Amino acid sequence: MKTTIGKIGKSKDQEVTIGAWLAGKRSSGKIAFLQLRDGTGFIQGVVVKADVGEDVFQQAKSLTQESSLYVTGIVREDERAPSGYELTVTKVEVLHEAVDYPITPKEHGTEFLMDHRHLWLRSKRQHAVMKIRNEIIQATYQFFTENDFVKIDPPILTGSAPEGTSELFATKYFDEDAYLSQSGQLYMEAAAMAMGRVFSFGPTFRAEKSKTRRHLIEFWMIEPEMAFVEFNENLEIQEQYVSYVVKAVLENCVIELNTLGRDLSKLEKIEAPFPRITYDEAISFLQEKGFDDIVWGDDFGSPHETAIAEHYDKPVFITHYPTSLKPFYMQPDPNREDVVLCADLIAPEGYGEIIGGSERIHDFELLKKNIQAHQLSLEDYQWYLELRQYGSVPHSGFGLGLERTVAWISGVEHVRETIPFPRLLNRLYP
Ligand code: 4AD
Ligand code: MG
Repeated sequence: MKTTIGKIGKSKDQEVTIGAWLAGKRSSGKIAFLQLRDGTGFIQGVVVKADVGEDVFQQAKSLTQESSLYVTGIVREDERAPSGYELTVTKVEVLHEAVDYPITPKEHGTEFLMDHRHLWLRSKRQHAVMKIRNEIIQATYQFFTENDFVKIDPPILTGSAPEGTSELFATKYFDEDAYLSQSGQLYMEAAAMAMGRVFSFGPTFRAEKSKTRRHLIEFWMIEPEMAFVEFNENLEIQEQYVSYVVKAVLENCVIELNTLGRDLSKLEKIEAPFPRITYDEAISFLQEKGFDDIVWGDDFGSPHETAIAEHYDKPVFITHYPTSLKPFYMQPDPNREDVVLCADLIAPEGYGEIIGGSERIHDFELLKKNIQAHQLSLEDYQWYLELRQYGSVPHSGFGLGLERTVAWISGVEHVRETIPFPRLLNRLYP
């Protein structure tokens, strides 16, 4: 019977055939161990010379890394195996022999691996990260669907720039200027006025000259937007969503988390509510910790975020940032002109900001004033302003960066490993 490694437990003690690649191999004079992978998982195939005979044994011993195979064998339960099963091989058919696969079991440098990303994805570690990424995406759709959100797809080609104009990728749209989207938020606000609660999931682009472990040029964002939701409720939804996603990964990706050596006890602590501190408190905290160069009005860098995050074992919200640090659309604090009703969610363990969100300005005049103060064109934003002319309501939303979230939950150091084909400063290949 044909099956997959993921479903192999259903055929215990039976003979099955799987299509697989040879991920690795060890052998002695009498026995060969084949590390097989088929995308659904990894399993060890055991070839015993005394059982299969000289020909099959020699063939198995000479198999090369990443050759594609049909492997037939009997499924055996094995407690020591990560998947719980092993395959006692009876027959191997080679579909394609791979010669000199470049990624060998020895150590390779990062640039070499990045140049071979199209092959590196096959490794056990990269496979585990992609499965966790997939689980986070699945859990995202589930969470928002269960909570009456509608999935809405904002455009990728846009004529305006919600997060500031300095980091835009410009292109031509026939005779007009266009930009690759840095955030779908403004369109999601329009959609929230039509559908109530909406979320998007799509690629966003930032021409940031940052070369850090947290920055990609092209990254994927989940952007929920909610009508009739104010500042506090926005934070509650965020902490519920993030907790839900972590729980789903703990439930459905234990093999992958173990492959990555992730400390599960750290993830088990991630439950709503999350701690909240104001920007003011964060500044005082940092000054007490000896960051004496930081003053009120400065933005936080990675070392600041990490110092704050280290103080907690859950993600922490930093709220009420100075107006001057944030985009034009954020609602001012009614009690204080100099800060806005926003929050960034900082992941534990130094993974940095995973969410940026806020309540949005719903007053027409105030929004118009801010657009002008930011020297943006009223004409470009006319449609956005019109949302405040016909049944304007308080509303809020946020954007979660998928890759930073995958990095944190997986425990991988750098976001380049959390997206299949990373776009980084100086890297567009493969
Ligand atoms: O904080 P940001 O810039 O917020 C917005 O774009 C809002 N318009 C979202 C909204 O309210 N709908 O970006 C949101 C998140 C960040 O918290 C971070 O996780 C991620 O997107 N992010 C990046 N991830 C990887 N590489 C980059 N260069 C990123 N820039 C932002
Ligand atoms: Mg931000």
